[in-house]
Amino acid sequence: MKTDTRDGGVRAGAREMLLTVARGLALATAMLPIAIICFVLTFLSVGLIPIGIGLVTTPAVLTAVRAFADVRRRLAAEWCGVEIRAAYRPLPEGANPWTRTFGMLRDPQVRRDVLWLPVDMTAGFFTALLPAVLVLYPLEGLALPFGLWRAMTGGAYGEYGPYWYGFVPVSGQATAFAAAALAAVLLWVAYRYAARLMVVHFRLTRAVLGSGQAELTERVRVLTETRRDAVDVSAAELRRIERDLHDGAQARLVAMGMDLGTVEALVEKDPAQAKLLLAQARRSSAEALAELRDLVRGIHPPVLAERGLGDAVRALALRLPVPTEVAVELPGRADAPVESAAYFAASEVLTNAVKHSGADRIWVDLHHADGLLRITVTDDGRGGAAVGAGSGLAGVERRLGTFDGVLAVSSPAGGPTMVTMEIPCALS
Ligand SMILES: Nc1ncnc2c1ncn2[C@@H]1O[C@H](COP(=O)(O)OP(=O)(O)O)[C@@H](O)[C@H]1O
Ligand SMILES: [Mg+2]
Repeated sequence: MKTDTRDGGVRAGAREMLLTVARGLALATAMLPIAIICFVLTFLSVGLIPIGIGLVTTPAVLTAVRAFADVRRRLAAEWCGVEIRAAYRPLPEGANPWTRTFGMLRDPQVRRDVLWLPVDMTAGFFTALLPAVLVLYPLEGLALPFGLWRAMTGGAYGEYGPYWYGFVPVSGQATAFAAAALAAVLLWVAYRYAARLMVVHFRLTRAVLGSGQAELTERVRVLTETRRDAVDVSAAELRRIERDLHDGAQARLVAMGMDLGTVEALVEKDPAQAKLLLAQARRSSAEALAELRDLVRGIHPPVLAERGLGDAVRALALRLPVPTEVAVELPGRADAPVESAAYFAASEVLTNAVKHSGADRIWVDLHHADGLLRITVTDDGRGGAAVGAGSGLAGVERRLGTFDGVLAVSSPAGGPTMVTMEIPCALS
């Protein structure tokens, strides 16, 4: 006698089997027309590129194909736990149709999406049907003893010859029962394995659609690019420091030296004039010192090393001529290079707000959550900030890119401007 739990187990198993069949049928029937439409549209759209229309339609069609592929990726994860990873290249925002179209067509992931469509229409279609076939075929076998065999063989005289069910030649009531026995075995197999059979479909999907090696290739491409940028950035930084030292502190020291030389010559003949020159030399030395301090602050201020990013940004905000509110929520310290990049970025964005925005107030928010350090700088100024209009924001973007960080600027004409920077990092 079956116990309740066993019964529940059987019922749950049967439900899972039927669910798999239904899912497979739904995939095969609902997805097939969409795949065909996507494929045809992609072909037409790419074909229309030479006369210009394709430049407008292709990004839209490829985005639709991507959405279609995304649905399948999600179903693979939800239904069978098959993770299909995608590695799309980011497209530059507001790019013209030409760069958008060709940027997308050059993306290996987009090309895999398109290549997957015909595979999905054929092999994908049949593999989605597999669970249904595995369940329906035994049902046919079970119906054979109940008269179906007559229809299949052409009556009691077997006019059409034996009907092969699996390896059983059905030619009468007895062989129909043998076929039914085989069907029962098959039904048991279906009950046990139908759910797993769905995995075949998604494995196939992953083989064509998944990024696999391509993801690594893409990663290498990004790393190569950001490394080159990092080298460029530090070379530019060095040139800036060299220039600042040359035009600033060095020039003042030279002037001071000359002043002191004159003082030496004058001190006996004209003490009053010598005194004036001494005062001037003292001013120069104070200025040289202030300039050196500023220079050091721009590279890696002592407060950043000693007290961390939060305090360094607070100190930065205090020196700004615009009232600035700083909210910090950092439970630890990030790695020194990350802190340094974040400080540099915050400093550039704050300088921009003071220089370009005409704002009366600035808000800075620093916090760390889910492995992301996020810095937001908002001002109530006139807006119109754009990455690439000058060298500052573009430099920030490159510098953050070295740490897989990103920069987002929202700055409609009329303001307000909100600049968000995110760097994935762990806090100690
Ligand atoms: N907070 C802001 N408010 C208004 N305009 C801004 C702001 N930040 C940047 N901009 C505009 O965006 C341009 C690009 O900034 P950036 O790349 O830092 O270059 P720059 O070297 O001119 O500072 C600036 O020239 C300025 O016109
Ligand atoms: Mg700037």
